[in-house]
Amino acid sequence: MESEVPLPQQVEGLRSDFAQALSALKSDPASTIKDVEDLRVRFTGKKSQIQSLMGGLKSLEGKDRAEAGKTLNLLKRDFENELKAVREEVEARQQAAELAGEWVDVTLDIDPRTRGGLHPLSVIQYQIEDVFTSMGFQILDGPHIETEYFNFEALNTPADHPARDLQDTFYFEDGNVLRTHTSSIQIRGMKRLEPPFKIIGPGKVFRCEKVDASHEATFHQLEGMMVDRDIKVAHLSYFLKELLSQVYRREIEIRLRPGFFPFVEPGFELDIACLICEGKGCKVCKSLGWVELLGCGMVHPNVLRHGGIDPDEWSGFAFGMGLDRLVMSRYGIDDIRLIHSADLRFFRQFI
Ligand code: FA5
Repeated sequence: MESEVPLPQQVEGLRSDFAQALSALKSDPASTIKDVEDLRVRFTGKKSQIQSLMGGLKSLEGKDRAEAGKTLNLLKRDFENELKAVREEVEARQQAAELAGEWVDVTLDIDPRTRGGLHPLSVIQYQIEDVFTSMGFQILDGPHIETEYFNFEALNTPADHPARDLQDTFYFEDGNVLRTHTSSIQIRGMKRLEPPFKIIGPGKVFRCEKVDASHEATFHQLEGMMVDRDIKVAHLSYFLKELLSQVYRREIEIRLRPGFFPFVEPGFELDIACLICEGKGCKVCKSLGWVELLGCGMVHPNVLRHGGIDPDEWSGFAFGMGLDRLVMSRYGIDDIRLIHSADLRFFRQFI
């Protein structure tokens, strides 16, 4: 070794420089892994002082060479150990700073109104679907634009039938119509399924209708149908009672009265006591105290035939319910137009 400064002093000097640089790095919160790496290169890298001292070992002989080599190796190992420890410290500090930057308070309370909610019509529709599917019914769909055949003729309502006046609708130039009721889904269901079966079909329907507190030109119905052997009015009555008790969850007064629909025989209409005025009379029930909720009856043999089902072997019931009316009575809404409005003040009540 050809330095004028003896090795022990050079080693002391190196240790002291290293300790000073390391302590500056540790005490600076902004230190990075790169700073640690620079320190490593400076004190133990190829061009470091240790490395050049090691290079000079070859000029020493025997015992001196072994001792100097041992001292320098020890020095290098000490530097490396300390650098390793400080690298872990800086890494941990960097990670903690990153985590603090990404921290999100998942318990933070947000205004529930900004979350939105289901339209009351959807709430009631899903509830009814749950009731019926739990009783083995399947849910079917059908198109809004229907052929006259599916909307009227197959439902025993030929072109000259006076019942067509009750459901005046919008005609397209090609002869198709906007469906006036979900009963068209009955025919589609019968043509698709083998009896016995139980189906429901919810959806939008359209009529040329004078709009008032309980009538809309676009409204919603839910059709139900069961086809099996020996189906009787008692079956129809059981399923309707079950439905109403689940939707209202309280005693409500109903009345079943004879009603005419060309596609059922016998036919009935089911009214519920007006829950808006508690039967006293209001604009919704037109001062009658009762609101018509649904039409129903035993499926007419002609309709079964149109659906490809033999009426001598099978029988069935069907019903078609006004969903908007159900929503009105369930939530005490006194005008159907509110349900179809875009008034957020109204809808926020249901969130
Ligand atoms: C029908 O539409 C028959 N398809 C129902 C049916 C199905 C009968 C199966 C027998 C067997 P109706 O026109 O009465 O029937 O309508 C059924 C229900 O829809 C009514 O009881 C009422 O709750 C609702 N509804 C009828 N017209 C309107 C309207 N303009 N606005 C809102 N709801 C209406």
